[in-house]
Amino acid sequence: MSAVHTAVIPAAGLGTRFLPATKAMPKEMLPVVDKPAIQFVVEEAVAAGMDDVLFITSRGKRALEDHFDRNTDLEVALAEKNDSDRLALTQESTDLARVHYVRQGQALGLGHAVLMAENHVGDRPFAVLLGDDLIDARDPILPKMIEVREKHGGSVICLMRVPREDISLYGCAAVEETTDDDVLRVVDLIEKPPVEQAPSDLAIIGRYVLDPAVFDVLHRTQPGRGGEIQLTDALLELASMPAEQGGGVHGVVFDGRRYDTGDKLSYLKAVIRLATEREDIGPDLRTWIAEQDYGRAP
Ligand code: UTP
Repeated sequence: MSAVHTAVIPAAGLGTRFLPATKAMPKEMLPVVDKPAIQFVVEEAVAAGMDDVLFITSRGKRALEDHFDRNTDLEVALAEKNDSDRLALTQESTDLARVHYVRQGQALGLGHAVLMAENHVGDRPFAVLLGDDLIDARDPILPKMIEVREKHGGSVICLMRVPREDISLYGCAAVEETTDDDVLRVVDLIEKPPVEQAPSDLAIIGRYVLDPAVFDVLHRTQPGRGGEIQLTDALLELASMPAEQGGGVHGVVFDGRRYDTGDKLSYLKAVIRLATEREDIGPDLRTWIAEQDYGRAP
């Protein structure tokens, strides 16, 4: 059984990069082939041993709540047709975990969204998973992060090496080595630094295991970059706090398959990549892609 039971999934952002699709539909519900992106994220948390999911939502996220609830009309209709395969697909998301919701009244930033989880989480460590990052189920990273938390205490972030010129799209970490080969001690964090000011090529990606001490820190974290309360700023303060106060931040480096679904181009790449790997539609899709004549004038 995992030492971390609660997965907090912030989904209260405005999704402006996907307008107009996200005007009335949550971006987390955008399908990756035939499954909403957010379901992959919940499945990842459950696979890592978490049985309690808290979504941070906002106005307009009803479709997300419905997706993890039962749809009895659909279930009855499919049962009457003896369509057990589709019935199972319908029920899959309902049976995954105990799901709870709390609202973030205003999108004041990721740090503020995480703070909304305080009452639910209490004084236990918890995980945060961002729906924009899909981690391939074949390359799980959360179990390793939980193991590092068990060994070192404090909080654990997930880092990925990116091409230097891309670092300004991410939070960036300055690190020191530890006696564990694959664990780094975080000494500085900068949200979306200009390339020339980035201390490393290590980008923060959307998986965290946090000590509950983060809540006290978030209460006093002032709006930072973009006028938002940044989780990165709170993590930086945690990094310099003593271990007995819940401080200390370690990083693990992820080198598996990850798909970014946060902007249009990355999202399309993720969908195409995962669709071409599917047994049912992959072969036909690959043939079709190979046949396309991209050099032809539109
Ligand atoms: P993003 O900045 O990628 O999401 O936040 P966004 O604001 O929805 O997207 P754009 O930039 O306008 O297109 C990362 C994650 O944090 C959540 C988002 O839902 C997303 O999962 N988030 C962000 C919140 O829950 N609340 C916030 O105030 C900000």
